[in-house]
Amino acid sequence: MYCNNIASVFFIIVWLCSLGECAVLRTYINGEYKNSVSDLNCNQYNNDYDIIRQFPFPLLINPVEYAFHKSAVVMYKNNNASIQEIYIMDEEIVPSSIFCLSNLEELTIISTPFQNGIIPDAIENLKQLQQLMIYESPIKKITEKLVTLPKLLTLLLSNCSLTHIQDLSKLKTLEMLELSNNYLTHINEVPDLGLLKLDGNLFKEIPVIKNTDNIWFLDMNKNPLINALPILSYKNVRYIFLENATLTSIPPTIDKLQKIEYLLLTDNKISYLPTNVLNLPNLKEFSIRNNLLSSGDMKLIETAFKKSHPDLYICV
Ligand SMILES: *[C@@H]1O[C@H](CO)[C@@H](O)[C@H](O)[C@H]1NC(C)=O
Ligand SMILES: *[C@@H]1O[C@H](CO)[C@@H](O)[C@H](O)[C@H]1NC(C)=O
Ligand SMILES: *[C@@H]1O[C@H](CO)[C@@H](O)[C@H](O)[C@H]1NC(C)=O
Repeated sequence: MYCNNIASVFFIIVWLCSLGECAVLRTYINGEYKNSVSDLNCNQYNNDYDIIRQFPFPLLINPVEYAFHKSAVVMYKNNNASIQEIYIMDEEIVPSSIFCLSNLEELTIISTPFQNGIIPDAIENLKQLQQLMIYESPIKKITEKLVTLPKLLTLLLSNCSLTHIQDLSKLKTLEMLELSNNYLTHINEVPDLGLLKLDGNLFKEIPVIKNTDNIWFLDMNKNPLINALPILSYKNVRYIFLENATLTSIPPTIDKLQKIEYLLLTDNKISYLPTNVLNLPNLKEFSIRNNLLSSGDMKLIETAFKKSHPDLYICV
């Protein structure tokens, strides 16, 4: 019996190692499971090529066309054998050793799950990372270490079944936060962002957050919003997307947001438009199609806008 057990453990080790999971497994056997950088033992690799060679799937290297359809890497142009960008697409699992690619600036994962659905502590190893984009990969838990990435500009987690997102305010360099198509009802604090995309979630309120001064783009499409009042705290917003958002009205003082250029309100239940909407001097596109306004009201709105905004692209 004893020998059999050893033998089967051995086979499991060989199999897992072929998947590039050796280092993680070793700590399991030592009795303590920590998925941190040291457990990965990145020192066993000579360079980035060495790491991807042991992935359980092949990668295209520097593919010509930019619209990748398969997993691929882009190397730095100075031929120093370092990987600048990696795209993992439709694979069985994200290999842990990806977190040894310490020169990475862009990490994109599409339809490929993390081990146990966890973005692990080891991500802190990616000190050069500027863009982290994950699509259609279920995420159960995200390490607190995420907020230690010192250069992150873009964080995108779309169609990832997220029910919660932690306080991100320590990510001081972050400019774009996109959390589309999840199950979020609220966000915690965020840093001083430019773009906030939360479409396709379960928000009942537009988030009331501290740092809204630099937000120029806000997408709250496809959320069950109760009203749009908190929009007034987004003082410098230029793009407002509120389509399919169960709205019955927009704030009468909407003209406090003088920088608005795009105001999209298609597919709501709005039955009345305040005249102040005509006092938005920078408005370029306005859409109010498929609401509860009568055709007579629509005509009046169109006529009024023709006078105040002759160049407006209007969709009624
Ligand atoms: C390769 O070059 C890039 C760009 O200059 C640099 O960021 C990276 O650290 C270099 N890699 C190594 C292993 O020195
Ligand atoms: C992402 O989620 C949205 C909303 O649930 C869905 O309509 C869309 O098809 C999903 N996208 C993919 C590629 O799965
Ligand atoms: C709103 O939702 C409906 C039903 O899901 C969809 O058909 C329509 O295209 C959506 N409208 C917009 C502007 O996204």
